[in-house]
Amino acid sequence: MNKRKICVVGLGYIGLPTSALLASRGYDVHGVDVVQNTVDTINRGEIHIVEPELDTFVKAAVNSGKLKAGTKPAKADVFIIAVPTPFHDGFVPNIDYVVSATKAIAPYVQEGNIVILESTSPVGTTDTVEDTLKVAGVDTSKLYVAHCPERVLPGHIMRELVENDRIVGGTTLEATRLTAEFYREFVEGEVLETDAKTAEMTKLTENSFRDTNIAFANELSILCDKFDIDVWELIKLINRHPRVNVLQPGAGVGGHCIAVDPWFIVHAGGDDAKIIRTAREVNTYKTEWAIEKIKNEALVFEKENGRKAKVACMGLAFKPNIDDLRESPALYITRRLIFDALDVLAVEPNIEAHEEFEIIDYKEALEKADIVTFLVAHKEFKKLDIKTELDFCGVLN
Ligand SMILES: NC(=O)c1ccc[n+]([C@@H]2O[C@H](COP(=O)([O-])OP(=O)(O)OC[C@H]3O[C@@H](n4cnc5c(N)ncnc54)[C@H](O)[C@@H]3O)[C@@H](O)[C@H]2O)c1
Repeated sequence: MNKRKICVVGLGYIGLPTSALLASRGYDVHGVDVVQNTVDTINRGEIHIVEPELDTFVKAAVNSGKLKAGTKPAKADVFIIAVPTPFHDGFVPNIDYVVSATKAIAPYVQEGNIVILESTSPVGTTDTVEDTLKVAGVDTSKLYVAHCPERVLPGHIMRELVENDRIVGGTTLEATRLTAEFYREFVEGEVLETDAKTAEMTKLTENSFRDTNIAFANELSILCDKFDIDVWELIKLINRHPRVNVLQPGAGVGGHCIAVDPWFIVHAGGDDAKIIRTAREVNTYKTEWAIEKIKNEALVFEKENGRKAKVACMGLAFKPNIDDLRESPALYITRRLIFDALDVLAVEPNIEAHEEFEIIDYKEALEKADIVTFLVAHKEFKKLDIKTELDFCGVLN
């Protein structure tokens, strides 16, 4: 079966690296995005997102003529959908982008094509892709539709796209087999075969597992604070048990994956998704708990000194050493403290400016602050010698 022409829909953090990698392996790739500026940037051989090595890959792919971008799909052997899957208000999964991308490819899909959904998706979405194509008049009995969730780590995407194991689940056995065969052409990790629903659930379960483990650590951190025990030391000690591996607590859980995907299970699972829902709630509560701690400390300072405390919020990103603020508990805490009229010094070494508040250098913040709160364990903050601090991310340990 011919699989040389690829059409990738959605040219973001997943779609663009995938397109550039496939082009570097000799496939003819047509990338599609609804944002004209993204398409123009890529066609100039440049990139619109920050990811190591991606610029080199895209430049080479565009220069060799193997990667072209456009706002409309084109005929291909394999279609890959990599569009966002956020949620609507109330944590209701939003698959509108997937449906609209599917409708967009429908006029170009032909007999014998493979259609792959890579977006992280609620269980049943691959069936929705197939149904959407059917409603658009495509004879889906002659197509191979499958899900292959992406599990790359931002910052290491180009390497992990090749090295990670992949899970492929088709709506038919033949779809699974042919799609897995396609991935084996460029993936060095193992390509594991299952059905579409199981493949969808694997990705959601991986992120829910991490969310639950972090919730356990966050609950421990609150209990340890009550018992006057150092939670970081406790976790270091218990993880010496050969079968215990507790993750690290923090100011909550952020990012567009772990803080989002478990809700896809909770939404469909209802009252049966007890642990997964509770983990989300514990992680959200940890952020509220941190806000209360900081406000109490500020109140004590004000009573003792007769003036408002200057509070340094150290870090705004959702995890250490990145500039990504999506769903970030640190950003949420900073916003809430400002909203509650605290005198805040916002620090984020990985960004230069923010539209809502002034970003100041961490050394200047340390000089000016009465209370220092560590929200993200950025490398700049390690081994600082601070007297009055609230360390929610263990950066000083
Ligand atoms: N970024 C990650 O690290 C990561 C890791 C694993 C899984 N995922 C999942 O992969 C999917 C894509 O994530 P991302 O980070 O690449 O998102 P992104 O926001 O970086 O990129 C998505 C792109 O799709 C485009 N788009 C939206 N609707 C479109 C349409 N109808 N047709 C064409 N283009 C369209 C957007 O303009 C955007 O450029 C999501 O489901 C996400 O959960 C992401």
